[in-house]
Amino acid sequence: MKIKTIYHFIFFIIIFTLLFELILGFYRNYRRKTTYDKALKKSREVKKPLLVIGSPNAGFLGSIKSHYGCGDVCVDLVGCNKCEKSIKGDILDVLKNLPDNSHVIFESCVLEYIEKPKKKLIFNEIKRVSNGLFFEVRINPTIIANILDYVPYFDSLVENGLN
Ligand SMILES: C[S@@+](CC[C@H](N)C(=O)[O-])C[C@H]1O[C@@H](n2cnc3c(N)ncnc32)[C@H](O)[C@@H]1O
Repeated sequence: MKIKTIYHFIFFIIIFTLLFELILGFYRNYRRKTTYDKALKKSREVKKPLLVIGSPNAGFLGSIKSHYGCGDVCVDLVGCNKCEKSIKGDILDVLKNLPDNSHVIFESCVLEYIEKPKKKLIFNEIKRVSNGLFFEVRINPTIIANILDYVPYFDSLVENGLN
């Protein structure tokens, strides 16, 4: 096979991957919106406040346009800058201070960034505070993060949020 053909082939694969990743990004935003809507509806139904974990305006696409709302209160390590009620802090600390069965919880693409032992503690707190009324959006499906998973010393972003 000619070198030029190999270059063309690699170029085609890269362009295809980037385009497909963009489509997956739009699909993620669709899931953010629809899952948030379900969480909000449930919170109004059961008359419990909606706690949003993860700023709607963080992340690459979120900084351009948010695809979900702030709920009644929003928590993120960097705060939720466009939300009326924002808590800037670690999600585990915030959850620990909330009573049992007190909130509906919506979380979007935050748990992937937390190391495993702590994630387990957060999951227990989410279960306690939401009593199962928990709505989540995962980064997967994604091609690029799955490829990065094979890069040594690169933290995985594709594990299921609660595993
Ligand atoms: C990729 S961004 C996702 C942003 C947004 N939730 C979304 O779905 O587009 C990951 C977010 O997780 C937040 N985060 C990471 N660890 C956290 C922790 N321990 N407690 C609260 N927020 C955390 C980061 O500050 C960042 O805003």
